[in-house]
Amino acid sequence: MKFDKPATTNPIDQGKVIGKATDRIDGPLKTTGTAPYAYERHDIVPNQAYGYIVGAGIGKGTIAFLDDSAARKAPGVLAVVSAKNAGKLGKGNFNTARLLAGPEVQHYHQAVAIVVAETFEQARAAANLIRVDYKREKGKFDLAAAKDSAIKPTPQGGFDPIPDTAVGDFAGAFASAPVQLDTTYTTPDQSHMMMEPHASIAAWEGDKLTVWTSNQMIAWSKGDIAKTLGIPKENVRMDSPYIGGGFGGKLFIRADILLAALGAKAAKRPVKVALQRPLMPNNTTHRPATIQRIRIGATKDGKITAIGHESWNGDLPGGGLEVAVQQTRLFYAGENRMTKMRLATLDLPEANAMRAPGEAPGLMALEIAMDEMAEKLGMDPVEFRIRNDTQVDPEKPERPFSQRRFVECLRTGVERFGWQRRSATPGTVRDGRWLVGMGVAGAFRNNLLTKSAARVRVDPRGIVTVETDMTDIGTGSYTIIGQTAAEMMGVPLDRVVVRLGDSDFPASCGSGGQWGGNNSTSGVYAACAKLRDAIATKLGFDPAQTEFVDGQVRSGSRRVPLAEAVGDAEMVAEDQIEYGDLDKKFQQSTFGAHFCEVGVDRITGEVRVRRMLAVCAAGRILNPKSARSQVIGAMTMGVGAALMEELAVDKRFGFFVNHDLASYEVPVHADIPHQEVIFLDETDPISSPMKAKGVGELGICGVAAAVANAIHNATGARVRDYPITLDKILGTLPVVA
Ligand code: MOS
Repeated sequence: MKFDKPATTNPIDQGKVIGKATDRIDGPLKTTGTAPYAYERHDIVPNQAYGYIVGAGIGKGTIAFLDDSAARKAPGVLAVVSAKNAGKLGKGNFNTARLLAGPEVQHYHQAVAIVVAETFEQARAAANLIRVDYKREKGKFDLAAAKDSAIKPTPQGGFDPIPDTAVGDFAGAFASAPVQLDTTYTTPDQSHMMMEPHASIAAWEGDKLTVWTSNQMIAWSKGDIAKTLGIPKENVRMDSPYIGGGFGGKLFIRADILLAALGAKAAKRPVKVALQRPLMPNNTTHRPATIQRIRIGATKDGKITAIGHESWNGDLPGGGLEVAVQQTRLFYAGENRMTKMRLATLDLPEANAMRAPGEAPGLMALEIAMDEMAEKLGMDPVEFRIRNDTQVDPEKPERPFSQRRFVECLRTGVERFGWQRRSATPGTVRDGRWLVGMGVAGAFRNNLLTKSAARVRVDPRGIVTVETDMTDIGTGSYTIIGQTAAEMMGVPLDRVVVRLGDSDFPASCGSGGQWGGNNSTSGVYAACAKLRDAIATKLGFDPAQTEFVDGQVRSGSRRVPLAEAVGDAEMVAEDQIEYGDLDKKFQQSTFGAHFCEVGVDRITGEVRVRRMLAVCAAGRILNPKSARSQVIGAMTMGVGAALMEELAVDKRFGFFVNHDLASYEVPVHADIPHQEVIFLDETDPISSPMKAKGVGELGICGVAAAVANAIHNATGARVRDYPITLDKILGTLPVVA
């Protein structure tokens, strides 16, 4: 099905199942501990051996000498694989050539070997017997120092962003603006730190490989395993039905998949591997640190006349930009504009996507800058944002937004949060030892369209089964896909079976970039539409005049139970959603406003978040219950970004020091107060037949700035360097009696 015209009324609009707050259909499996996560698929294939990965002990250099003889003789050891005996590895699309070091070491904890043994303990003990001598080279590990040698990368297509944009005369307009702001912000390296580590079981049958794993993008990763191992794609099967969090860290194949496959080949046994927690931050990818300079020029009555946003990040040679200026190209009006991104070479582990790549760190800076500018203007920060709203792409005014209800998000939040009670003067509200303040920030994240396929069956009992390689990374994919099929086929949700994550199923959009919900359900919509037509035709009905409701197929006065319509043999249809150019004609984005109240201890500087509210406008909300869970989870992650999360760089040796959950701090229940989420009631007919968009990343966008702005309102302290730990506030706290 090609979606190239705005959607008209369709079966999804009935809203019998779609749009209803619905418990996760996979909830019982998860709450009883029976959902099969990759490492726990003990019975999926017999005779599983254990792999243990050895990570490099240097940040940059070469392996001079690797001696695995003691490990090979250790009890229970079946195989040791390193670059010495791995054979030639190909290059996948996503930096797979870096997954095994040797002789070159490109980053700390890059895998240098896998030890395979009968038991986990034997593999781990033997791994400790591997001796590696390194020749260490001087690397670049400091973004601030590397910033001046950063380059302007040339986009190579795909996801590669355009580094610079310019409209009007930014320099002139900024210089002549009556009110000016020129500030620099920094955001740190962050780790996905999903609960379930990267984990895989690999088994060979002849030259055919099966990998049971934990991965967000099955089709991408299947292709990359094949390319890296130099085998035909048809010889690879990948299965990833349950994923304990991804956040972008499992978009690609990582060392667990590749080394499980190599280990299994060498040991001639199925091999299971999980990355040990301390390996995850340095061995896998992370969100890169940024330095961001923002300049805003405005008239005295708060109209932006010039807006400029520059961002620097680092990555390994050949790496990529963190698109931190993305939202600034689209979020606020202003005739004269410039954005610029530069990439420094760093020898730290690989930088890559993490929840709302681009917008999440970009809004951490932009939305403090908006607060600072409002303060300079003596305006309410909500009012300042409203005054600079735009209904068109400000860089290309001929392109309208498909929908943009940002102002309504702000106004709804003002009312529901009690924003009027905020004191405009920082440091003036007290509650015992707490200085209390409120902050606001805008939220923006793009809506991305990408094709997605599914297969739908109806069996003679009238049971509907959906199969697609779509993944559920904790987001609720199973449920919204089930709801879509139920709505389309006119059956209750408990008559639908959803099977996900298997590369033998039709290729979906996968889970990433908050595109999963809208695109995967649109693929299911397309397959269901095809199946409906086939069933109607079989009954001699006019498909255009046929309804599927209450378990029946209806046309005119005729009503046939679905099971009867299908007959003795199951009926099946497969289709995919493909898009025309509606996303070129219209800018498709999601919007929100975050409100936050904090208390700051006036003596210690300790920050406690007291209340939070998110108001989101993101098209049709397919399942308000799981969507709310997505947003409160993202808000929690945003609090982590504001107050806690930072991969601390050892700039001498080149690694992230705090590589465990004891020292990489994330919020726990006690850190998070009551959170409220409001979804504006909307449908976006430009986005897809589902008229939905995404929320999973919108929820984190702007949160950290709302916290930062609340801290400023509470104390007067303006911290521009995340995370806002108490040492950065202490010296600036007002002296209050
Ligand atoms: Mo997302 S960072 O594209 O999983």
